[in-house]
Amino acid sequence: MMLRVLEPELMEDAGQVFAYAQADFNRPHSEFIRRIKTLVKNPDFNGKALDLGCGPGDISCRFIKAFPSATLDAIDGSRLMIDFASNTIDKKLLERLNFIHGKIPETSLPNNAYEIIFSNSLLHHLPDPQVLWHTIKQYSKSGTYIAIMDLVRPGRTYLAKTLVDMYASSEPEVLQQDFYNSLLAAFSLEEITNQLAEADLPLSVEKVSDRHVFISGVIA
Ligand SMILES: C[S@@+](CC[C@H](N)C(=O)[O-])C[C@H]1O[C@@H](n2cnc3c(N)ncnc32)[C@H](O)[C@@H]1O
Repeated sequence: MMLRVLEPELMEDAGQVFAYAQADFNRPHSEFIRRIKTLVKNPDFNGKALDLGCGPGDISCRFIKAFPSATLDAIDGSRLMIDFASNTIDKKLLERLNFIHGKIPETSLPNNAYEIIFSNSLLHHLPDPQVLWHTIKQYSKSGTYIAIMDLVRPGRTYLAKTLVDMYASSEPEVLQQDFYNSLLAAFSLEEITNQLAEADLPLSVEKVSDRHVFISGVIA
């Protein structure tokens, strides 16, 4: 089995941020929003949501459009990511979407508890995965919907290379390298299941594609 290889926690390199922000993530991101809709079941949801590690804000925007009565706090530790998100978004959406520059767990969030907490592709960036699970526990309450998506680490290095060739061969070199590094930094399903047990967070863990895991549930 291939061991985890950490990548830098925050995405702060200008070339990397720009390539990531320009990349076409339409399929996985629309699929993620579809899964959140299935979980929440209510398109009229009018509560507070939280996006952890929002990056350039593509999913934050999709969420706020999919739930036209919701408000959203979206946080990222990278100044460049938050600037990109704030500068490119349709300004009208900023009435319901608050981009926050801050790193979890150090930064405290504007609300004590949220009704939906979601995150895509943050978990594999964290040296200590419990940072995500503890933040979820801290900022949720009974009934909070949780939806987390991330990559799954393949069992062998050559499988990571195969996935890069399958899904990113037409992308710029910096993005291919980024995807490869992310696959090596990601967790296995077993590791995620153990993390949730350690955090006493009973969420379901499903492998939903050849490279993605979806972790979801409702807080008791
Ligand atoms: C791969 S990007 C994902 C961005 C976005 N969620 C998406 O799916 O397009 C991961 C993001 O997490 C941010 N990040 C990493 N560790 C963080 C932390 N402890 N607190 C806040 N943001 C963090 C990085 O700066 C980066 O922008």
